[in-house]
Amino acid sequence: MKRDFKDAIKNRRTYYSINDKSPISDEAIKEIIDFAVLNVPSSFNSQSSRIVLLLNDNHKKLWNIVKDVLRKIVPADAFPATESKIDNAFAAGYGTILFFEDQSVVEGLQNAFPSYKDNFPVWSQHTSAMHQLTIWTMLEDAGLGASLQHYNPIIDEEVAKAFNLNPKWKLIAQMPFGTPNSQPGAKEFQPLDKRVLVFK
Ligand SMILES: Cc1cc2nc3c(=O)[nH]c(=O)nc-3n(C[C@H](O)[C@H](O)[C@H](O)COP(=O)(O)O)c2cc1C
Repeated sequence: MKRDFKDAIKNRRTYYSINDKSPISDEAIKEIIDFAVLNVPSSFNSQSSRIVLLLNDNHKKLWNIVKDVLRKIVPADAFPATESKIDNAFAAGYGTILFFEDQSVVEGLQNAFPSYKDNFPVWSQHTSAMHQLTIWTMLEDAGLGASLQHYNPIIDEEVAKAFNLNPKWKLIAQMPFGTPNSQPGAKEFQPLDKRVLVFK
C-alpha cells in the first residue's frame, strides 16, 4: 500500500466515471483480492466469502446480463437512461469484482450452532462488507476507481449460469472498476457529535 491506512480509508470514494484502462497488471488486481480474502475476518473464522474477478469479455458479459434482465422489467421509455448509466459508469470500466457468500458454509454453521442460527446470515453479510471495503480501498490506493452496485437478486440466476458458479454462492454485490476519468465531487458530512458518543 502506498498510502498509510488512514489516508487510504479517507481517499476511497465512489467513481462512476471510469475507463477500460488499468494502471496495474491483472496479477496485481488478483493479489489485492487474494490479500483481502486471506486477511479479512469472518465470524467463527468461517471464511464464507467468495470473490469472482471478471475481466475483458467476461466483464462485458456481466453488464450485458444486467441490461438484458433490466430490459424486461424497466418501462421502455425509462430504459435508455438505465442503459446509458450501465454502459458509461459500469461496463465502461476495466473489470468487475463480484462478491458472494457461500450459503453451504452459513448453513453448516447454523446446523453446528443452532443457538446462533439467526445470526450467521447477518454475520455473513458483515464479512462480505469487510471484504468490499478492503478491496475498494486497495483498488483506489493502486490508482483504480470503483463503485459498489447491487443488481442482485434479479441477475443471480443468469450470472450463476453464465460463469458456471456454485448455486450455493449467493451474490451480494458488484464492484465495477477502472481508471478514473475524473475525481468525485466533495462529500457532505453529518456532524460527528450526532453520530459518535463517548462516555468517560
Ligand atoms: C452498503 C453500501 C451499499 C451501496 N450501494 C450502492 C449501490 O447499489 N449503487 C451505488 O451507486 N452506490 C452504492 N453505494 C455507494 C454509496 O452511495 C457511497 O459510498 C456514498 O454515497 C458515499 O460516497 P463515497 O463512496 O464517494 O464516499 C453503496 C455504499 C455502501 C456502503
